[in-house]
Amino acid sequence: MFLVATIFLLLLNLVSSCKLLNAYDYFDITLTIKTSECSYAGTDTLLLLYFPFHGNQSYTFVPNLGPFQIRTDYDGLEASQTTTQTIKWNEIKESAKGKPLCWPSLKTILIERQRFTWLIPEIASAWKPQSIQISINGTQNAEVLREFPPNCDVGWINESGFYQIGPASDQIQMLSDKKEEVFV
Ligand SMILES: *[C@@H]1O[C@H](CO)[C@@H](O)[C@H](O)[C@H]1NC(C)=O
Ligand SMILES: *[C@@H]1O[C@H](CO)[C@@H](O)[C@H](O)[C@H]1NC(C)=O
Ligand SMILES: *[C@@H]1O[C@H](CO)[C@@H](O)[C@H](O)[C@H]1NC(C)=O
Repeated sequence: MFLVATIFLLLLNLVSSCKLLNAYDYFDITLTIKTSECSYAGTDTLLLLYFPFHGNQSYTFVPNLGPFQIRTDYDGLEASQTTTQTIKWNEIKESAKGKPLCWPSLKTILIERQRFTWLIPEIASAWKPQSIQISINGTQNAEVLREFPPNCDVGWINESGFYQIGPASDQIQMLSDKKEEVFV
C-alpha cells in the first residue's frame, strides 16, 4: 500500500503538481450540464467523468479522482435540458481507492462514453453537450465553465472512448477508445 502510494506520488510529481488533500478536508463536486438544442443531441448512454492530472506535452493523463457516472436517467440529458448533479464526498473518497487524494484539477477533465450501448440505438446514444459547469463545494473553492461550439456539426460525444474537455474553454476532443493510451 505504501509502495503504491509512493509510486503514485512520484508519477504525479513528474507530470503535474498535486496539491494533496489533508485528512480533514472534504468537499462535494457539483455538475450543471446543459445539452444542446441540436436534433438528437440528447442521450441515455453511459457516461463517466474523470478528474485526472495532465502533463504539458502529451495526451496522457495520471488518474486521480473518478470515474463518476453522469446520470442520464430521468431524462436529464435530453436536448435543451439542464441537469444538476452532485458527487458526494463519500463517492469521491472511494474513487481514490486508498491512494493519496489530490485536489481535482478542473482545467482538464475526461468523459468516457462506454461501449455499453447495444440496447440503445446509435442515434439515441450520441450526445452533444452545450455546456458543463463544475464547482467544488458550491462556488466556495473553485469553479469552471466549459461552453462548447453551438455548431451542430461538431462537439459530439458520439463514439465509444475518452474525450478531453478543456483546458481551452470550448475544447471537446476525442482522444482514443483505449484506456491504456489515455492513462499512464
Ligand atoms: C507546464 O507548463 C507550465 C507553464 O508553462 C509550467 O509552469 C509547468 O512547470 C509545466 N509543467 C510541466 C510538468 O512541465
Ligand atoms: C465544503 O463545505 C463543507 C460544508 O459547508 C465544509 O465543512 C468543508 O470544509 C468545505 N470544504 C472545503 C475544502 O472548503
Ligand atoms: C462524431 O461527431 C464528429 C463531430 O463532432 C464527426 O466528425 C464524426 O463523424 C461523428 N462520428 C460518428 C460515428 O457519427
